[in-house]
Amino acid sequence: MSGVRRLRPYALRCEHRTTPLGIDEPAPRLSWRLASGLRGDDPVAHRVRVAGSAEDLDDDGRLIWDTGRVADRVATAVDYAGPVLAGLTRFHWRVSVWPASSGAPAEADSWFETGFTPADRWHAVWIGQGPCPVDVMDAPTEGEFALDDRGLAPCPLLRRSFTAPAGARGRVHVSARGLYELRLNGERVGDAELAPGWTDYRHRVQYQTYDVTALLREGENVLAATVADGWWSGFVGFEPRRAGAHYGSAPQFLAELRLTGPDGDSTVIATDGSWRTATGTIRHADLLMGECHDLRYAAEGWELPGFDDSGWPSALVTDTDHGLLVAGADEPVRAMAELRPRSVKRHSGGVRVVDFGQNLAGRLRLSIRHLAPGARVVIRHAEVLDDSGRLYTANLRTAAATDVLVGDGREHIVFEPRFTYHGFRYAEISGLDESAEPDVVAVVLHSDTPWAGEFDCSDAGLRQLHECVAWGQRSNFVSVPTDCPQRDERLGWLADAQVFLPTAALNADVAAFFTKWLRDVDDARTPDGGFTNVAPRLVGVADEGAPGWADAGVIIPWHLYRSYDDPRFLARSLDSMCAWVDLVHRHNPDLVWRHRVGPHFSDWLAPGTPTPREVVATAYFAHSARLTAEAAGVLGHRERERRYRRLAEDIRRTFAERFVTSRGPTGGEAGGGTGGEPVVRIAGDTQTGYLLALAFELLPAGQAAGAARRLAGLVESAGPALLTGFLGVALAAPVLDAHGRSDLAHALLLREEVPSWRFPLLHGATTIWERWDGWTPGEGFRAPKMNSFNHYALGSIGEWLYRGVAGLDQAPDSTGYRKLLIRPRPGGLGHASARHESVRGTVAVAWERHGGLISLRVTVPPGATAEVHLPTTDPGSVRESGLVPGPDVPHLTRVRIAPGHVLYHVGSGSYHFTAAHPPAEGRSGTPGAHRPPPSPAPGRRAPGSYEEDTP
Ligand code: BGC
Repeated sequence: MSGVRRLRPYALRCEHRTTPLGIDEPAPRLSWRLASGLRGDDPVAHRVRVAGSAEDLDDDGRLIWDTGRVADRVATAVDYAGPVLAGLTRFHWRVSVWPASSGAPAEADSWFETGFTPADRWHAVWIGQGPCPVDVMDAPTEGEFALDDRGLAPCPLLRRSFTAPAGARGRVHVSARGLYELRLNGERVGDAELAPGWTDYRHRVQYQTYDVTALLREGENVLAATVADGWWSGFVGFEPRRAGAHYGSAPQFLAELRLTGPDGDSTVIATDGSWRTATGTIRHADLLMGECHDLRYAAEGWELPGFDDSGWPSALVTDTDHGLLVAGADEPVRAMAELRPRSVKRHSGGVRVVDFGQNLAGRLRLSIRHLAPGARVVIRHAEVLDDSGRLYTANLRTAAATDVLVGDGREHIVFEPRFTYHGFRYAEISGLDESAEPDVVAVVLHSDTPWAGEFDCSDAGLRQLHECVAWGQRSNFVSVPTDCPQRDERLGWLADAQVFLPTAALNADVAAFFTKWLRDVDDARTPDGGFTNVAPRLVGVADEGAPGWADAGVIIPWHLYRSYDDPRFLARSLDSMCAWVDLVHRHNPDLVWRHRVGPHFSDWLAPGTPTPREVVATAYFAHSARLTAEAAGVLGHRERERRYRRLAEDIRRTFAERFVTSRGPTGGEAGGGTGGEPVVRIAGDTQTGYLLALAFELLPAGQAAGAARRLAGLVESAGPALLTGFLGVALAAPVLDAHGRSDLAHALLLREEVPSWRFPLLHGATTIWERWDGWTPGEGFRAPKMNSFNHYALGSIGEWLYRGVAGLDQAPDSTGYRKLLIRPRPGGLGHASARHESVRGTVAVAWERHGGLISLRVTVPPGATAEVHLPTTDPGSVRESGLVPGPDVPHLTRVRIAPGHVLYHVGSGSYHFTAAHPPAEGRSGTPGAHRPPPSPAPGRRAPGSYEEDTP
C-alpha cells in the first residue's frame, strides 16, 4: 500500500469560502473535505482548534477555541462556538481527522479574518460629489454620442493622500452606493469587479476587505477611487416609469484604511470631507447602457503621490450612517476568463464584427496603437447576428450596450470598461484604423463560484448541451442570479433561480453565492411577509410574489441545505418560510390558491395548452407547506413541523379532490390504466399538471402510476416532446425517470425539432435560449420584446445529465452527499461520466459499455456510503476490480437483485464494477454522433452560426 494517500482533510473553508477577509458571521462555519486512496478509510473523530496565530495552534494553552476530540464519522464542518471573536482580526484554525486505522490524525490549517463587529466603530463616512458636477460644458456637436441624453453623468474621482511608515501593514474596508474601483498608489486594490455587488441598498450595503500591505510605501501614499452608478443609481430592469436611479441619484463612496506600523501603532485613513474630487476620463458608465471614456479629460497622475489636487473641490459628506454596512458574504464578481476572437468580419466603413464563438457576460479589452484627439471607437454588443451578418440588437430592448473610447492623440491605449458588462457573443467595432486588425479579447465576468462539476458522455450533442448550461450559469451569476445578462432586465427572478439551482449546485460551489442572495430574498419580502418575484427589489416597482416564483424563498434554502449539509440555510429562512405559507393560507382558506397570486406567471412560456393557474398555484402551495414542515423538522421545531405537515396534507387532499379524477380500474385507452390501474386525469390534462402532482407527491396512494402513465402518454403523443414552460421543464426528466421512463427522458434529449434542447444547439446556440424557438429557419427571430439567447431557466435539465445520465446522485434522505445514489441510465449512450466536488469530498462516476460489458467506476468520499445500481442483464457476471463480489471483498455488500440491475451497498473508496450489458443502441451511442448544424433556410441565417472568416 506504500504510496497510497491515506485519509486527509483538504479544501478548508470558512463560511463556504477560502481564507475570507472580513467576515461578520459571529459563529463562522469551518468546514473541510476528505480524501483517501484507500477503501473504508473513514474518519472516526475530528478536532478543530482556533488560535490567534499559526504558532499558537501548536500550543494548547494558547488556543481560543478547541472542540477537543469529537467522535464523529460523518461531520465535515463545525460552527464556531468559542468566545466572541474580536473584530478586524486574523484567526488561524486547524482541523485534525482521525482515521479508523491508526492513532495519528491527519491535519490541515487555514485562516480567516473578521470584519467589523458591533464592537468596532467605523470612522469612514459616505462621501460623494454633491449635486453639482464640476465640469464645464460644451455645446453638443453633430454626431455627439447620443447616450448623453439619458442623463448619464461622469464618474466621480475621489482621492486622498496620507503618509505611512516603512513596514506598515494595511487592510482597507471599502464600499459604495454604486460601484467602486480603488487604487493605492496607482495599483488596483483587489480584483473584485462591480463591487460592492448588488443588494437592496435600503436594507444592506456590502463592504469588501482587502489586504493592501504590498501596495503601501514609506512616505506619501494615495488612495484613489472611481465610483459609478451601478445598480444604485444607474439603469436596472425594464420598468419604463422607473428605468433607473432606483436607490439613489448619484454614487457615493466609503473606505477605511487601517494601518498598523512596525511598532504596532495603528492609524485610520477614512473617507471624510478632506478627500478631493473631480471627474476624469469616464464620461459615463452604466450597466445597461455601457461606458464612455474620453481620454481628453485625463487628469494624468491623479492616482499617484505627487499630484497637485489643490484645485479640486472637497468631497461632500453625504451620510454618516453605518447601520446598513455588512461584510460581503460571497466571493465577488471577477474577470474569470478571456476569449480571443474566433473570427473577424469586415464591413463597409471600417466596421468590424468580431465573433468570440461563445455567448457570455463581460466586456471587451481593446488594445489600440493610436487614436487621434477626438476620434472615437464605438463598440456595440449583441448575442446574435441578423441576415446581413450585422448585429441583431432588437432583443436588448433599451439596453444600449455600447462602449465608447474617445482619443486624445496618445500612442497605445488599452481600453476596457470598468463599470459595465454586456451579454454578447458578437461585438461590432467601428472607428479603428482601417488597415489595423483589432487587438481584442472578451473578458468574461461572473461571481467567483468555484467550479465543482464535470460531465462527459459519448454524445457530442449532450456534451454541447452541458457546456451551454454551464455558460448560462456563468453569464447569469453576476452578484445575483439573473434571468439574462443582455437586455434591460438582468433581475434576480426567483423562479428562474429555483428551477436552476439543482443544476447550478452540481456545476459549482454556489453556497456562499446563495448565502448572500438569500439575504436579498429576505430583504425583498413585502410587509405582510410575502416573498417577491425578484430580489433584490427595485424601488418603485410593486412586486407581489407569484406561485413558483415566491415559493423559491422556501425551495432554495431547502435545496441548499441538502446540497451543502448546512442547516443554517434553513435556520435563517424558517421564519420567512412559515410567514409565506401562512400568508398564502390566510388569503386562501379553502386551500385552493387563487388569491394573492401576484402576476401569476403560471408555467411561464409553455408552448402547449396552458395549465390551469389554480393547479400550478395549489401544487406549489402544498410543496412549500411540506418543505416548511421538513425544515422545521430538521431544526427540531416539532410544533411547527406538525402544523405545516398537517397543512401540507390538507392542501394535498384538496388538490386531489378539486383537480384529480380517477376512473377505473379500466384498461386499454391511451394514457389510461392497464393491468388494473385507474385512469387518472388532472384538471387541464397538461404535462405540467402531471409533473407538478407527481414531483410534489400530491396524488392519493394508487394514483401516481396512472398519472405517470398519462404524463408519458402526453409526452409521447407530442413528439415525444415537452409542452411545458420552465416550471414544468425542470421536473420533466426526474419525474419521468422516477416513474420508470428514463427512456422518455433520453428521447426528449435526442429530439431535434422545436421544442427541444437540441434545436438551438443545431442552430449555433452556445448558451440556453429563453424560448425553445427564439429563432427558427422559417420565422427568424421571435418577439424581440422577450427573446434572450442566454437564459438559464430551460437549462434546468443540466441536473439530469449528472443525476440521470451519468448516475451521480444522493439518496432522497441524504444531505451533503453522505449517502450516494449511483444509478446510471445509459439510454443509447456508449459512455458517460460525472464528477462533483461535494462538501464531503470528490464524488465521481464513470461508466462505459463495450463488447457486451458495462464498466462502472465509482468514487465515494471518506465518511460516505453509496447505493450502487449496476445495470446488468446477468447478475452472475458481476466483477468488482476483477473479483466476484462476495464476503472477501470488503466494504461491499450485495443488497438485492432486481430486474435489469443489481444493487450493492459500498463504503468509501473507489470501485470498479464490470458486468454483462447489452451494447449501446441508437445513434447517440456513437461517439461524436451529433451532426453539424444544417445550412440555414434560404434568406435566414442561423443566429449563432455566421460563417467563419478568420483574418
Ligand atoms: C424573465 C423571466 C422571468 C419572467 C417572469 C421575464 O422577463 O426573463 O425569466 O421569470 O419575466 O415571468
